[in-house]
Amino acid sequence: MGPRRRNLLSYARGRTVELGSGTGLNLGHYPADLDELILTEPEAAMRTRLARRLRSSQLRARVLDASAEQLPFADETVDTVVSTLVLCTVDDPDPVLQEIGRVLRPRGRLLFLEHVRAESPRLAHWQDRLAGPWRRFAEGCHCNRATLELIQACGLALEDVQETSWRGMPPIVRPLITGVATKSDI
Ligand SMILES: C[S@@+](CC[C@H](N)C(=O)[O-])C[C@H]1O[C@@H](n2cnc3c(N)ncnc32)[C@H](O)[C@@H]1O
Repeated sequence: MGPRRRNLLSYARGRTVELGSGTGLNLGHYPADLDELILTEPEAAMRTRLARRLRSSQLRARVLDASAEQLPFADETVDTVVSTLVLCTVDDPDPVLQEIGRVLRPRGRLLFLEHVRAESPRLAHWQDRLAGPWRRFAEGCHCNRATLELIQACGLALEDVQETSWRGMPPIVRPLITGVATKSDI
């Protein structure tokens, strides 16, 4: 995943907000010339580990306690939002995508890396069957979510989407998408 994270985050520009930063696996991959980097994370234990990793890095960033459903930023004040393995975790992705659309400036971009619902009906069937146990095992993760369609439905324009596979993971979380979605400037 390291090279995928690095490639995705090379698109970050300006004022950048990461959702659900977790323990900070993206920290080593951000460009050095961002105007501002804000790492949001609602779980206290994760935030502690995130802050520790940030202190031992060269990166200048702020850590904020915030949920993706309610970001503490004014409308249209963010250039880049980053979501890596977060849209699969939140309870309901629709309010999160609305919130992303609210804070992004016109032409602002969502950078995403997410595992998603399989195109293969057979694998999607297993994702549906195992969604409950997987959610309990993987701390709220939804293995059968059609995240690409949800991003499209919320009005962001998809660019540079790559569909790939998360090697080494169980088949139900292998289908992976990565790409950029841009807010319109109208
Ligand atoms: C699978 S981890 C991914 C962590 C990190 N983004 C990464 O790429 O390694 C999911 C993260 O989403 C966070 N999370 C869960 N619910 C959230 C919410 N409603 N808003 C923002 N983050 C949330 C979790 O605390 C966790 O840090």
